[in-house]
Amino acid sequence: MWGMGGWTGSDDDESRQTLAYAIARGCSIFDTAWAYGEGRSERLLGEARRAHPHAPMVVATKVPPRNRRWPARPDDAVADVYPADHILASTEASLTNLGLDVIDLQQFHVWSDAWAMDEGWRRGVRAVKEQGLVKAFGISVNRWEPTNGLRALESGLIDSVQVVYNIFDQAAADELFPYCQAHDIAVIARVPFDEGSLTGTLTADSRWPEGDWRNSYFTPERLGETLARVERLQPLLPEDMPLPELALRFILEHPAVTTTIPGMRRVAHVAANVEASDGQPLPVRTVDALKAHRWNRS
Ligand SMILES: NC(=O)c1ccc[n+]([C@@H]2O[C@H](COP(=O)([O-])OP(=O)(O)OC[C@H]3O[C@@H](n4cnc5c(N)ncnc54)[C@H](OP(=O)(O)O)[C@@H]3O)[C@@H](O)[C@H]2O)c1
Repeated sequence: MWGMGGWTGSDDDESRQTLAYAIARGCSIFDTAWAYGEGRSERLLGEARRAHPHAPMVVATKVPPRNRRWPARPDDAVADVYPADHILASTEASLTNLGLDVIDLQQFHVWSDAWAMDEGWRRGVRAVKEQGLVKAFGISVNRWEPTNGLRALESGLIDSVQVVYNIFDQAAADELFPYCQAHDIAVIARVPFDEGSLTGTLTADSRWPEGDWRNSYFTPERLGETLARVERLQPLLPEDMPLPELALRFILEHPAVTTTIPGMRRVAHVAANVEASDGQPLPVRTVDALKAHRWNRS
């Protein structure tokens, strides 16, 4: 639900319709954050949750870093990022935006393992759980740093990790996934379409309105390389399977993956994306071939 909170082209009425449709289709996890429009995305999710109190929904949100620096840097003092009182205050702010009494999954929006041994964040996490404000707590690890969270997982306080994992970004499968499997930690695979490239809808002329962050992700140079890589996937598409479906099925193939959270601003996208949840596996040869399309970035 990042797009709903801040990308250009979002419309709250369309978001409301999309959320209602997703709930009706059985979509069961919704990932927002205070930072997605400073509560805008959370308010939309809260409205939808309250309108469907009996739907099997996991409401997931995130604590922003107190210093508001994305991504985290190892030399940021943890006391400036996640002191216990900030974790509590931010959770209360999110509960207000959501209009709910409890958050199913609260997550750190940034992380650096330089902070793993700090007692402050541990106290904060214990407090929000013990006060019944939060049922589970997770870490959203920085893009392209899937192992930068492993030390924090050893605390035993972390129930889930959210990590970039898709046909291009496969590094999470090296160390993080086996660790999570061994320790019963949920894996939320985020950015399944590489922010849009793995939907096959981008072209060399793709540009976004000024201020849209995708201009800095798909710089002209990176866009060119990305499109060439997307093109090389075409021969691997099984008959009648569009690229977005292949992208989602590749992610869901991995046994460590608990769920994946594609951007969900449009009803048509949700309609297409939930179809990949039918449990049907891809041919083994396709999965093996896709592994060769891994793209190591930093
Ligand atoms: N640090 C963090 O914790 C963090 C960072 C990034 C993302 N996330 C979470 O992960 C979620 C997903 O990532 P994302 O939204 O950034 O990227 P994404 O899911 O990889 O890609 C989103 C893009 O794919 C398009 N799309 C979705 N389904 C489609 C379909 N079936 N066919 C064609 N296009 C489709 C969307 O279109 P529209 O533009 O039309 O909507 C959007 O442009 C976020 O919404 C957020 O909840 C978390």
